[in-house]
Amino acid sequence: MITPAAHFPMSRPRRLRQAEWMRRLVSENTLTAADLIWPIFICEGQDVEEPVESMPGVSRMSIDRAVIAANEAANLEIPAIALFPNTPDALKTPDCAEAFNPDNLVNRATRAIKQNVPDIGIMLDVALDPYNSDGHDGLVREGVVLNDETLFVLEKQALSHAEAGADILGPSDMMDGRVGMIRQALEQNEYQNVAIMAYSAKYASAFYGPFRDAVGATGALKGDKATYQLNPANSDEAVRMAMRDIAEGADMVMVKPGMPYLDLCQRVANETGAPTYAYQVSGEYAMIEAAAQNGWIDRDKAIMEALLAFKRAGCSGILTYHALEIAKKLAEPIL
Ligand code: PBG
Repeated sequence: MITPAAHFPMSRPRRLRQAEWMRRLVSENTLTAADLIWPIFICEGQDVEEPVESMPGVSRMSIDRAVIAANEAANLEIPAIALFPNTPDALKTPDCAEAFNPDNLVNRATRAIKQNVPDIGIMLDVALDPYNSDGHDGLVREGVVLNDETLFVLEKQALSHAEAGADILGPSDMMDGRVGMIRQALEQNEYQNVAIMAYSAKYASAFYGPFRDAVGATGALKGDKATYQLNPANSDEAVRMAMRDIAEGADMVMVKPGMPYLDLCQRVANETGAPTYAYQVSGEYAMIEAAAQNGWIDRDKAIMEALLAFKRAGCSGILTYHALEIAKKLAEPIL
């Protein structure tokens, strides 16, 4: 006979973990398609899909293909997509004039998607790196990334994107004063409803490598971005940046990269109270895919676990290259 002994646990948390239905019942966080923003890469041409070598499973798409992809995303109830251009090298110049060309790649893609898939949100980056022969996010003079001169170009870029139909602008350049400048330009030009998701806590990170490959900026970048992106050693500074961007008119804020900066996801979400998004960047994507290709991790479980972590940290959503695949999975019946 087993006698109850003092050392038998009085509390048995395992009771709530005993079956899948029970675990679902007590789950504190969930991931849904509504949490996802899907970044896609746009290239010139017709009917083109070129694989990005450093991001297995991701391709650059010509505009016609991007329209089809956007439609698929909308059908899966993904709220928004983010478009990034692979600008032909010939159009990259020191003055970055292509950034505000009304007919540049992302502006044309935005118009085409808006026309064919009106119910999906479109987010466009505001930063000069896809258009800069130096590969930097701002204008460069004698090796220095110029702040205030860059703001005037960003303003023109922002207005050209709003004019093309962008719903959300994502200033990712990290120049001081850019959110206020863009907010004011939008207000003065009757684009009051264009939202700003500020890349507020954007770190000078090694995890952007594959993205630079995808947008064709790998060879171009001279030096690094440490004079404008945040130092990975800092935490309070990221919170200050988010507060500043909100004060300047940002509607939403972002932490980037994602997983190595989960502490900031939590702090920024808690301390600002603003909708906070994580950008699970290209290097994070590549790490999961590379490990999975080697058979070192269970790919599908790792993807879900990483995305759920952002929800647990307090994020309102995640920019992830896995968005389409995950939305498909979430649409399947669970049992
Ligand atoms: C451009 C920009 C970058 C990313 C998004 N916007 C690269 C950079 O700052 O060098 C990176 C996204 C990713 O790695 O997935 N300002």
